[in-house]
Amino acid sequence: MRKKLVVGNWKMNLTRSEASATIESLLLMIEPTTEIEVAICPTYLTIETVGQLFKRTHFKVGAQDVFWMNSGAFTGNVSAPMLKDVGCHFCIVGHSETRGRFGKLDIPESTIPYFSETDETVNLKIKSLLYHSIHPILCCGETLAEREAGQTDEVIQAQLKGALSGIEGAEFHDGVVAYEPVWAIGTGKTCDTAEAGRVCTMIRKALVEILDESAAASIRILYGGSVKGSNAGELFAQPDIDGGLVGGASLVAEDFSKIIQSA
Ligand code: PGA
Repeated sequence: MRKKLVVGNWKMNLTRSEASATIESLLLMIEPTTEIEVAICPTYLTIETVGQLFKRTHFKVGAQDVFWMNSGAFTGNVSAPMLKDVGCHFCIVGHSETRGRFGKLDIPESTIPYFSETDETVNLKIKSLLYHSIHPILCCGETLAEREAGQTDEVIQAQLKGALSGIEGAEFHDGVVAYEPVWAIGTGKTCDTAEAGRVCTMIRKALVEILDESAAASIRILYGGSVKGSNAGELFAQPDIDGGLVGGASLVAEDFSKIIQSA
């Protein structure tokens, strides 16, 4: 039986004092239970702050990205052993925003090449995370143009194949996959529940092919893209949706606590 997992992706939001206030309110709103797993992925700068506040709870802290080398001349980057050192349990990889695929674009389009993630870099990052015992949250999902061209399944299958190349099922057993349709991220447009459920079932079938039956059955598949208190319950009730990756709504304790309660 897969335990439901709700992960907050804070993206580039909240200073240390704002993060503390948000977590303190959240902890007052949520009954401690070990029946579901909850994690927050704040900015690198607030990982320790959030981790400290979670110390006596079962909540976990994660990162939003990682570089695949352990150390060296890689200005601006952070490695898996460094994330481990500050207590990271999870790390998001291959988010559409680090791949330069935005649901809602509010930066100049000419800067897109700056976000240079590929399936190959995602693969290197996952290998480094697994080596350092950090659980990867592998994001995949199609753009609106890909969906309209009927390419949703093939785009996602190619992303999974590339990201998991050379990785054994037993290694990714505790891994997480997040289905995040790019057009639904930060736009307020949620994917239709039945369609989100269908894609997540397709992902589990693809994982049987890419990894193996036992890994595919154990991997938590999350839905992400405008998850709110009002839609979380029906999304999480789909047989192959094991929780959510929540952006905007995880920044407000009251909204995030409603989503956790739905799980
Ligand atoms: P959103 O973001 O909930 O704000 O749409 C989800 C994500 O990008 O992980």
